[in-house]
Amino acid sequence: MDKVVVSLGGSVLVPDEQDDDYISHLSSLLRSLRNRYELYAVCGGGRVARYYIETGRKLGMPVATLDEMGIDVTRVNARLLRSALGEAASPAAPATIGEAAAAGGPGRIVVMGGTVPGHTTDGVASMLAEAVGASRIVNATSVDGVYDSDPRGNPSAKRYARLTFQELADIIGTEHGAGRNAPFDPLGASIVMRRRIPLMVLAGRDLRAVKKAIIGEEFDGTLIDG
Ligand code: UTP
Repeated sequence: MDKVVVSLGGSVLVPDEQDDDYISHLSSLLRSLRNRYELYAVCGGGRVARYYIETGRKLGMPVATLDEMGIDVTRVNARLLRSALGEAASPAAPATIGEAAAAGGPGRIVVMGGTVPGHTTDGVASMLAEAVGASRIVNATSVDGVYDSDPRGNPSAKRYARLTFQELADIIGTEHGAGRNAPFDPLGASIVMRRRIPLMVLAGRDLRAVKKAIIGEEFDGTLIDG
């Protein structure tokens, strides 16, 4: 059975306007696929995490503390999705990659947030994909793919349909900074490149694209592979 890790951006799961419909539809989709794929969902922190991180930064807190507040928020988001999934979710709330890998199995969706300071949940998704031998990572973000410049600031930005791992690494750079915005975490990019794990970047709100990517079909977004 194929194993698939879905990295869910915090702003996808918890947008500015309260949206229980989305979480309900996402849960139905994941439930409908759980007997065909071994699924792992990693939840990001989104705007709420950024709020804590920015406030802590202004108050002069050390980066590790900012990261830990970010991790706390990702875990609350994971709890929200796990609860929405009900009995389809593994009851475990994994705090480490090892715990998440041990909780996985056919029919059980594992849901987690962050692990330790120093990376983001994209990095967690990549480490988890490496640990369980996942066939692919679906990165469900607030943007519908990887662009040559920020599409929110530049209306003529062009979306890549396909990139190599090296091209993704060149776009991202190497710096980690708490709360930073990039198409994928540098640590995660280096892991998928080393382990050659296909990465699909798409709009998490587009559940058609999410479904197609999970089942390995052509989807609307950016495919990063070989
Ligand atoms: P996110 O994974 O949401 O980071 O974790 P992000 O990439 O900044 O957010 P999106 O994708 O744009 O929504 C939020 C913050 O929590 C800390 C980091 O500071 C991260 O920026 N974090 C998260 C960790 O330090 N370790 C983890 O394992 C996860």
